[in-house]
Amino acid sequence: MTTHINQRPTAIRRVLPFVFRHWLHQPVGASVVAGGLLGATVADLFMPVFSGHLVDAMTAGASDPAARRAAFMAFGAIVALGLVSMILRLIGLQAIVPFTLRIMSDVARDAFVRVQRFSTDWHANSFAGSTVRKITRGMWALDLLNDTILMALLPSLAVLLGSMILLGLHWPSLGLVIAVGALIYIPMIVIFTTRYIAPAARVSNAWDTKVGGTLADALTCNAVVKSFGAEAREDARLARVISRWRRRVRRSWLRYNYTSTAQLAVLLCLRGSVIGGALLLWMAGRASPGDVTYVLTSYYIIHAYLRDVGMHINNLQRSVNDMEELVAIHDETIGIADVAGALPIDVRGGRIVFEDVTFHYGGHRTPLYDGLSVDIGAGERVGLVGRSGSGKTTFVKLVQRLYDVSGGRILIDGQDIAEVTQHSLRSQIAIVQQDPILFHRSLAENIAYGRPGASMAAIEQAARLANAHEFILRAKRLRHASRRTWRQALRGRAAARGAGARVSGRRAGIDPGRGDIQPRLGVGGADPAGDGTADEGTHLDRDRAPAVDGARPRPHPGV
Ligand SMILES: Nc1ncnc2c1ncn2[C@@H]1O[C@H](COP(=O)(O)OP(=O)(O)O)[C@@H](O)[C@H]1O
Ligand SMILES: [Mg+2]
Repeated sequence: MTTHINQRPTAIRRVLPFVFRHWLHQPVGASVVAGGLLGATVADLFMPVFSGHLVDAMTAGASDPAARRAAFMAFGAIVALGLVSMILRLIGLQAIVPFTLRIMSDVARDAFVRVQRFSTDWHANSFAGSTVRKITRGMWALDLLNDTILMALLPSLAVLLGSMILLGLHWPSLGLVIAVGALIYIPMIVIFTTRYIAPAARVSNAWDTKVGGTLADALTCNAVVKSFGAEAREDARLARVISRWRRRVRRSWLRYNYTSTAQLAVLLCLRGSVIGGALLLWMAGRASPGDVTYVLTSYYIIHAYLRDVGMHINNLQRSVNDMEELVAIHDETIGIADVAGALPIDVRGGRIVFEDVTFHYGGHRTPLYDGLSVDIGAGERVGLVGRSGSGKTTFVKLVQRLYDVSGGRILIDGQDIAEVTQHSLRSQIAIVQQDPILFHRSLAENIAYGRPGASMAAIEQAARLANAHEFILRAKRLRHASRRTWRQALRGRAAARGAGARVSGRRAGIDPGRGDIQPRLGVGGADPAGDGTADEGTHLDRDRAPAVDGARPRPHPGV
């Protein structure tokens, strides 16, 4: 485990720079938070001094007016320090709210922006559920991390250092005892958390992600599970994952327990040394009762902070572990990127040319296509027929540039698709998926996905062209019809047609009178019904005819 960790940058070295970069986006916010919270700790630093003054004044006797005045001064100072501390703390706390929320939003948004653009392969190999878990867990870990550093660790260290200096100025020997104690304690905590707890926490996090992924996988494929009556099998699968998760989490929790016990043992030694030292000073006549009060109060404040430093470093380590997977998403390269200065594709006719294309999926040795040349003229309709696995779907994916070819070129109207923007390319291609994939959004939004802002008339027309108009007549309020209504209304083959009703492209040709149908490419392994619903179809339309057809050529819809 340790070897494994040493081979890559430790989580802390990846995560902290990432977080600090986000802090730098809000320099004013960061300064107000740190200033307010650090300022508040100054009160804690001076509290023991005035407690000592108070006790010394009191031991002088209540009848002495000078002592009474000194006692009231000390009392006033203690109350005033408390008030200042409260106000500064409130300022810090108020500032940390928008500060942290903004970073959390930025991080979640950036992660989503990237994940959406990761390659098709990345998505094929990642559980959507795990990715969601990584992002949301990372967001909340960032909240804990910010709180830990700004609200806890910085003030703790400031109080610790300040008390050590103040105490050391009075009694160098006591200052030295505390310095030595802190020098043993803090490195011990750092080593325990990074070497002992972190590896276990990292493994338990990975299992946590797996539990999320397993749940999401089975739930997403619930239709398959149901159709095979495989609920019990999925239950058992989850139980296996949970049992391993439990073992890993147990190990990491136990390590937390052992570490905190070790911390307390070191603190106990320190307490004995400091209080014993104060006793010796008093016996030697070098410390008044007020001085002893000062030492005791200082020690208890230091003790509280030292005990908490351990907890804060644990929290730091835990939040860093929780954020690691999110930061990895930010470090991941986007598989298929636009070339520098890529321009939008200009499709006029829609001729598709495969020029000596060689392609193989990652990890495969023999290419799926080896020097494939195809020329589909503008306006031509082509059906690809072949046995399952022969590469029909891949052909369509290459036209969409979901994968880059390893040799040759794919041209549309003479433009190499590798050199144009992916957005412009894909928004020119209408595709009817083999399985209808619907968003959990209204039916109208689902249909108009390819053309946001399409009119209701256009949406209805698209649905009509997909032979889904009986449904439309039933769903009176299309705009508000839910995905569930849609599912209920469009079953089986009708659903495939329904998903095909998606209004495609910027200028979807559902406008009356627009759009002659341009080259159309249908791919079908089998199409027994002959209605084009057996496999996906795609077409490339100059003038955006609606994406309603499957593989079978249809008559011009006459819109
Ligand atoms: N993402 C992928 N990674 C690796 N191999 C793949 C991937 N997608 C498809 N393949 C393989 O490529 C071959 C062609 O697949 P595909 O184009 O889907 O065939 P078809 O649509 O003709 O059934 C098959 O052997 C399939 O297993
Ligand atoms: Mg296929």
